[in-house]
Formats: sequence, C-alpha cells, structure tokens
Amino acid sequence: TAHLTHPADVRGATPVTPELILPGTRPVPTSFVLGAATAAYQIEGARHEDGRRDSIWDTFSHTPGAVVDGDTGDVACDHYHRYAADVALMRSLGLQSYRFSTSWTRVCPDGGPVNAAGLDFYERLVDALLEAGIAPWLTLYHWDLPQALEHRGGWTERSTTDRFVDYALAVHDRLGDRVRTWTTLNEPFCSAFLGYTGGMHAPGRTSPADGLAAAHHLMLAHGKAVQALRDRDPSLELGLTLNFTVADPLDPSDPRDVDGARRVDAQMNRIFLDPIFRGEYPADLLEDVRHLGLEDHIMDGDLAVISTPIDVLGVNYYNGEAIGHEAPAAPLDDSVNGGRETRSPLPAAEHAHRHPRGLPVTDMDWEIQPEGLTRLLVRLHREYAGPAGVALHVTENGAAFDDVADDRGFVQDRDRTAYVRAHLGAVLDAVEQGVPVRGYFYWSLLDNFEWAWGYAKRFGIVRVDYDTQVRTPKASALDYARIIATRQLPP
Ligand code: NOJ
Repeated sequence: TAHLTHPADVRGATPVTPELILPGTRPVPTSFVLGAATAAYQIEGARHEDGRRDSIWDTFSHTPGAVVDGDTGDVACDHYHRYAADVALMRSLGLQSYRFSTSWTRVCPDGGPVNAAGLDFYERLVDALLEAGIAPWLTLYHWDLPQALEHRGGWTERSTTDRFVDYALAVHDRLGDRVRTWTTLNEPFCSAFLGYTGGMHAPGRTSPADGLAAAHHLMLAHGKAVQALRDRDPSLELGLTLNFTVADPLDPSDPRDVDGARRVDAQMNRIFLDPIFRGEYPADLLEDVRHLGLEDHIMDGDLAVISTPIDVLGVNYYNGEAIGHEAPAAPLDDSVNGGRETRSPLPAAEHAHRHPRGLPVTDMDWEIQPEGLTRLLVRLHREYAGPAGVALHVTENGAAFDDVADDRGFVQDRDRTAYVRAHLGAVLDAVEQGVPVRGYFYWSLLDNFEWAWGYAKRFGIVRVDYDTQVRTPKASALDYARIIATRQLPP
C-alpha cells in the first residue's frame, strides 16, 4: 500500500476565514473540475501479466539507445498492482477527477481478439474511482499501439483505424455504463510525428511522409470511433486531446520569422484542428507538404468522418515557443538518445527553428509561459470550439523539475507549486474572458516513465521512489489539495 509520509487529507479542514486569505487570492468556480492525469504505459508496469502483449513502446524502450539509461515501462510505478492504494491517495488529495488511459494490448493483445482479463483490471480501477467519488476520464489511445499492428504497417496502414474501433467498442462494452467521458486519442501530433517522423518516440521511424499518413489515419480512427461510440450511446461525452504550441515569430517585423511561426502553427495545431472542426486541411499546410503524399491517403468521405461532432476538446499545454527562420547560434545538445531529441519532428520544417528567448525553463528545457495558455484557450474557443459548441478542458499541464527529496522522501517543490498556481491563474483569466473551460488535470499524479527520457524526468505532484515504490506527496500536491478543498487559488 502507498505510504503517506505527509498526511494530505485536507477534507474537513478548518474553513478558511477571510483573515487567512492572502491578497490576490482568487476563487475557483465550484463547477470547475480539478484533477490529475496519467497514462497506461507510463505507470502500469506488469508487462506480460494477465495476457498483455507488447505494444510499440515495449519494443522501442527495449531497443538499445532509444531511451535514456535504457529505462523501460516493464515495472514503471507498478500501478497495475497498486491501483487501489493510488486511488486512496487521489482521494486523500481530494481529486475530483482522474484522467487515465487503457492499454490497447491489455484489451486486444495482438490488436485483434479481446482479452477479458485485461478489461477486468480497468473495471477494478473504475469501480475503485467511483467508490472514492472520483470521476473517471478515459483515454483510449495514449501511444501504445499493439506491436502486432505495427508489423502490419502501424498507423501508416489504413486498416489500423478499424482495429481501433474494435478496441474502442470492446472497452465500451465493459465500461460504458460507468464512464461518461471518453476521449479517443491523446496528442496525435506526438503519435504521428515524434513516432513516424522525428523517431524519438515509438515506433522510431524517421519519414516525413509516414508521419503525415499516420496523422491522417489517427484522425480517421478518432472519427470512426466517435461515430461507433455515439451509435452505442448518444449520451456519452466524446472528444479527443490535442497538444498545442503557441508559436510566436522571433522578430514580428521580419516576414520570414512570421512565416516560420505560421508553418509551426500549421503543422502542430491546425493540421488537427481544421479537419476535426472544419472538415478540411488548411490550404497553407497542404501547400507546405505537397511533395509528401498526404493527399494520396485522403479518401472520399474521410473528412466528413474526421469532423464528426464531438462534445469536448482536451487541451494539453506545456509551453509556447519563439520561431525564427534561421537556426539558433548556440548548437543544440545532441548527446541524448542518439541525437533524436534535436531532430525536428515537423514533416516540412524548413525555415522554422525554435529559439530560446530568456524565459525561465523547466527540467525539460521548456519555457514557462503561463500567459500562452490564456491566449491559446481564447483562440481555441473563438476560432474552433466555440462555434461548434464544444467545451474545453485542460487535460494536461505540468512541469518536470530536478526534485530533491529529504530523508523522508519529501520534496519541497516550490517551483512546481508556483507553476501550477500560475497556470491555473492563466486558465481563470481565460474563463474571465468568457471562455468556457470546464476543468484542469495536472500532469502528472505520479512521477513516471517520461517516454524517451525514461525515469530521468519527474513530473509528479507525488514522488515515486522507484526502488521501494513508496509514494510521497510533494509540497505541490499539498498545495493543490488545499486549492481543491478551499476553492481558493493563492497568488
Ligand atoms: C504529454 C503526454 O501526453 C504525456 O504522456 C507526457 O508525459 C507529458 N506530455 C510530458 O511530456
């Protein structure tokens, strides 16, 4: 069971009197849902238990040189065996909702027939959440494609979209009566372009054309799954999660930098937003990637399927970036993962380079720029979600820092606490500007397997000691719990 060094049960705490409220404290609307997120491969472990077979991330993480320190998700946070204690921990923090993903290879080990034992696990998890009064938010695809399907072409192969629908319906058959919110994909940008173009993620391919084919098929799989789930039950709340950047031209008066920022916006944001909300690819994107064969994969009717109405858009935001038309003067560090981290994942990245602009950064080297989140939410609402009547929900936001634990395992992470407060404030700013944002999930509940970075990067509000699997809430978790309990956001 989880060992709570620092009891965090703040429910029932003394009501906050006005004298205790610091100047600048803001109320968090009672309807605004506060939670935390994880993903199957990053926390579960139990690689081959109860019929689970390998996904592309098992294969990739076991490939020498692919992940820092040769880390894999074989054990991860051992959440498969510790889920009950983890749910108790969530309850002690007062989380209102928990966003997790189901593992495709637990449910359909080879991408085909259903493995009931895999579904049993998610049924136990969801029942524990409901029992704890925590609303489950289910993501069907957080990057763990069955390796058997990758052998048959993976996301560059159109038939993978039908296997995804089979899998989605299998999960729905078991959990449809208990889970209200279903998102199909998490960050298809990363699945497509980090996986098939940049090669820093599974399956590790390095082809711009494959990345575009994968992006189209991922969106098609999303649209087909939304239609199939909607047919089963019109009352489900359906959507997907996209990751966004806020790309600013390095020099707004230089048209070449403006064009670089436009390119990045097209290939990271609008490539997904426009098909999903408008049923078309952006014209400038099609122009930029004309030589890469995207249009060969678009069949009649695909865009109508992709633009099937959804109910909720999950917004993942970590950072913005300044884009210049020339490479930055300082050479990038290519010592990690065979230099994969320095390669651009964009399929047509010419004249679009990320430049540091002197902002503070996290341990990922990502700029800390909370106002970018306000701008992003306002834009998404005005240009896409609002006209479609779709609600926004921040499904991820968080920071890795170089945590130092004391001898009891406690981390006094003032930097992460400040990050969460600032970004929640940025969301409230958007709400005040009339953007209906329904809630916020911190990424992540636990320190976990950070993909190509393995266990070297810690995003959790709860520390995981990987030798003992002891969980210890960090100062940021206690602060977050207090915000949830008091519905007051300190400055
Ligand atoms: C996005 C992904 O969805 C998640 O899996 C990842 O760990 C975080 N961002 C941090 O990089």
